[in-house]
Amino acid sequence: MYSRFVAGEAEALADFLAGEPWPFHVHERVDRADVLQRVAENHYDETYWIEADGERAGIVRLFDLEDETPMFDLRISARHRGKGLGRSAVRWLTDRLFGEFPHVERIEGTTRQDNAAMRRVFRRCGYVKEAHYRRAWPDASGHRHDSVGYAIIRRDWQTGETTVPDFHDE
Ligand SMILES: CC(C)(COP(=O)(O)OP(=O)(O)OC[C@H]1O[C@@H](n2cnc3c(N)ncnc32)[C@H](O)[C@@H]1OP(=O)(O)O)[C@@H](O)C(=O)NCCC(=O)NCCS
Repeated sequence: MYSRFVAGEAEALADFLAGEPWPFHVHERVDRADVLQRVAENHYDETYWIEADGERAGIVRLFDLEDETPMFDLRISARHRGKGLGRSAVRWLTDRLFGEFPHVERIEGTTRQDNAAMRRVFRRCGYVKEAHYRRAWPDASGHRHDSVGYAIIRRDWQTGETTVPDFHDE
């Protein structure tokens, strides 16, 4: 279900990313040439195809793996959304990062406030909201959205509990 992207698949990755808009990303349209250049620069070193129904339904790119807090970029193609692939992918990458990288203490992700699907995925996978950045995310029309940050900590992953930050400490 997850197969590691290799540089020889650069054209396929460029087709996938440039093939449709990504409205909840800072750059809604991805440029093919930019993808090819970034492949050459090893930007997609830790990237996996998400396969479903015998086709490439999405990608997940893991980054900052050398840090205690790696991050990820997850994209499911529009016609494959709402079938549980996002949730499975976040569970898969969470198990993989904590299971294979002992130095990883936290995994973080940020999304636009109105990205209801991604926020639901975070919560279903044991991530909790830790941050809220007001008017931090301008879209292509100039409208400024809030953005929200979620994270899971190793201890919660190990125990299966979901603890929350101490927000009312003032
Ligand atoms: C966000 C995204 C990864 C979610 O993946 P998905 O495969 O569509 O989501 P799932 O099918 O796993 O759904 C997970 C939950 O979200 C809910 N959900 C899905 N789409 C939703 C929507 N548009 N609004 C509200 N909830 C939604 C599902 O009902 C499900 O909830 P449940 O577990 O309580 O049943 C996917 O929609 C996507 O790639 N979107 C575009 C790119 C993007 O926004 N990436 C994230 C950037 S940070």
